[in-house]
Amino acid sequence: MSDLLVRAARGERTERPPVWLMRQAGRHIPEYREIRENYSFVEAVTTPEVAERITLLPWDRYEPDGLVMFSDILVVLEALGLSYHIESGTGPVIEDPVTGPADTDREQTPIAESLDYVGALLDRLTDSVGDRTSIIGFAGGPFTLASYAVAGRPSRNHLPVRKFRVQHPDAFETLLDTFTDAVVEYLRYQVDHGADVLQLFDTYAGVLPPADYERYIVPRHRRICAAVDAPTILFVRNMAGRLDQLAAADPDVISLDWTVEMGAARDALGETPVQGNLDPSVLFADQETVEARTREVIDAAGPEGHILNLGHGVNRDTPVQSVRTFVETAKSIS
Ligand code: CP3
Repeated sequence: MSDLLVRAARGERTERPPVWLMRQAGRHIPEYREIRENYSFVEAVTTPEVAERITLLPWDRYEPDGLVMFSDILVVLEALGLSYHIESGTGPVIEDPVTGPADTDREQTPIAESLDYVGALLDRLTDSVGDRTSIIGFAGGPFTLASYAVAGRPSRNHLPVRKFRVQHPDAFETLLDTFTDAVVEYLRYQVDHGADVLQLFDTYAGVLPPADYERYIVPRHRRICAAVDAPTILFVRNMAGRLDQLAAADPDVISLDWTVEMGAARDALGETPVQGNLDPSVLFADQETVEARTREVIDAAGPEGHILNLGHGVNRDTPVQSVRTFVETAKSIS
């Protein structure tokens, strides 16, 4: 059923949980690594034919209920005049990061111009598999984008952006608003090009203390979730003790990392649909363990409004057989 994911996202009881994996189109698939020998990451992302081929790799192998477009949260930085590349061993590097308050109120080019390759990719996916699976669009959340924009590269504890927010609180809000505006336009653009479901990855926002999260993050997540005309999934790591702050953004689905017990999350969140949350490292276990631990998550979540996923992205050396077992465990439920 092609709309299983959308139905679960709306809280419906489904005959089995729909399943997909964050980072399913990445480095754990041998063909992805082959394609990357011929194209840089940015080339692969900005060339719709190549991005389509990569998006479809997990379809050929696993037929998940959702295909997440192959792209990156950082592409939206381009619309704000910030370019990036992926350095092997380091990760994303921003060429010209935000250094002070004067850099925060940035001109934005229209998404339909600067990110036209994303629309072209979604058009292709709609044509090739749109009637067989759900197409998942996504964007980075304002804090996670700000962390990269200010640090210029991955930072373990996000100290550069946390410092920025106490040293320049007004400019920090300006920066968050700049990203929030761009993300709203970007997600609407994805829906116009056929995205069925949208995930907001504000992966790192959980490093803020609760009071600052409440003040800076919740209203912006609320704005984004309310602004788009498709089911929204909100993912933030390290929110186990404050699921209420995720719910306060009013997304359609809350994506749980693996540090929260699924049953406890269900008790805390009531009827709000959830996604997750197998620890990605379980996929390095033997196949019986993968199946048993996956079933535990499915059972704890129950049959209504659950999208089976990992608690975060697939790790790079994950055996493809384990991913297959994970997907098949969901599909074997009738
Ligand atoms: O899920 C998917 O398969 C869709 C594609 C996708 C990618 N990145 C592809 C990618 C998605 C949804 C993302 C989201 C993303 N990107 C996030 C939020 C979610 C998360 O996992 O926390 C963040 C923080 C980024 C920024 C980013 N881009 C990181 C941390 C990395 C990995 C750097 C590294 O070397 O490990 C990237 C690059 C990237 N984005 C890769 C892929 C497949 C790896 C590129 C490669 O080396 O081939």
